[in-house]
Amino acid sequence: MGLMHSQKNMPRNIRNRPIGIFDSGIGGLTVVKQVLRNLPDENIIYFGDTARVPYGTKSRATITRFAIQDADFLLKKGVKAIIAACFTVSSNAMNALVRRFDIPVLGMVEAGVDAVKKTGAKFIGIIGTSATIESKSYEKRLKEEIKGIKVISKACPLFVPLAEEGWVNNDIAKMTVEKYLLPLKKKRVDALVLACTHYPLLKKAISEFMGKEVKIILPGREMSFLLKQELANLNIENRTGSKGNMKIYLSDIPRNFGRIAKNFLGVPVLNAEKVEIENKW
Ligand code: DGL
Repeated sequence: MGLMHSQKNMPRNIRNRPIGIFDSGIGGLTVVKQVLRNLPDENIIYFGDTARVPYGTKSRATITRFAIQDADFLLKKGVKAIIAACFTVSSNAMNALVRRFDIPVLGMVEAGVDAVKKTGAKFIGIIGTSATIESKSYEKRLKEEIKGIKVISKACPLFVPLAEEGWVNNDIAKMTVEKYLLPLKKKRVDALVLACTHYPLLKKAISEFMGKEVKIILPGREMSFLLKQELANLNIENRTGSKGNMKIYLSDIPRNFGRIAKNFLGVPVLNAEKVEIENKW
C-alpha cells in the first residue's frame, strides 16, 4: 500500500533496521524469497504464526486480532517497515494495520494489483483462501484502479496442504488444480493471480493446466519492487553494502518445519526461535 510516511519523524539509524515480514505460518517465506532476491542488503525479521495457522478459514475479527499481535511483535523488534506477507491478512486486516502503525505497512493486495496493471490484462482470475476470496478485496481494488476490468474469483483451500506436503505436480495435485480452475479456464481469463503464500509452489501445475496464453501473476515478486520503491522514497534503504541477515521467529516449531521451509524459501533454513506472542504483545 504505497503509503507516504513523512521523514521528519524517522529515528536516526533507521536505515540499518530490519524489515519485518509476517505470515500465518511458514508460507510467507515465498515472499521472503523474492525480497531476498531484490533487496539482498536488507536484514529481515520473519514471524510465522505457526501455532494458530491457518488464518484462511477464520473470521475477519480473528484474523485482524492475530495480525495486530503479529505486527506488534515485529514492531517491538525495531523494524523500519512491515510486510503482511499473508494474503488472508492483507485482504481482511490491512486498514487496521495501517491505522495502527507509523512505519510503512505493505500488503499483498496492493502488490497484486500493481502486478496486474503491468500485464495490461483485462479479465482476471483471483485464487486464494476462503477468507481472501470472500473479502472481495482484490476485486474491489482492481475495479477501482483499472477501468473496465473483469474479475472472477475462486477459493482453492486444498492447495495449502498440497503445497505443505510437497505434492505440487503429482496426480492428486493435477486433479485438484483441474477441479478448482476449470471454471476459470472455461471463462478464458487472461491472467490468474496466485493470491496465497503457498500457491507459487503449484505454479507449474497451474500454468500447465491454464495454458500458455494465461499470464500467471505472483504478487510476492511485485512486493519486493514495492518495498524497494517505498524504502527509496523514504530514504531508508540499508546502504551498508553487506549481505543482510535473517532471523525467524515462530509461535510453534512444526514437526516438519525444516522440509517445508526449504521448499518455500528455496534454500535450507538453519534455525528458528519459538516465541509466545498471544499473551505477551
Ligand atoms: N498464508 C495464508 C495466505 O496467504 C495461507 C495459509 C492460511 O490459511 O493461513 O492467505
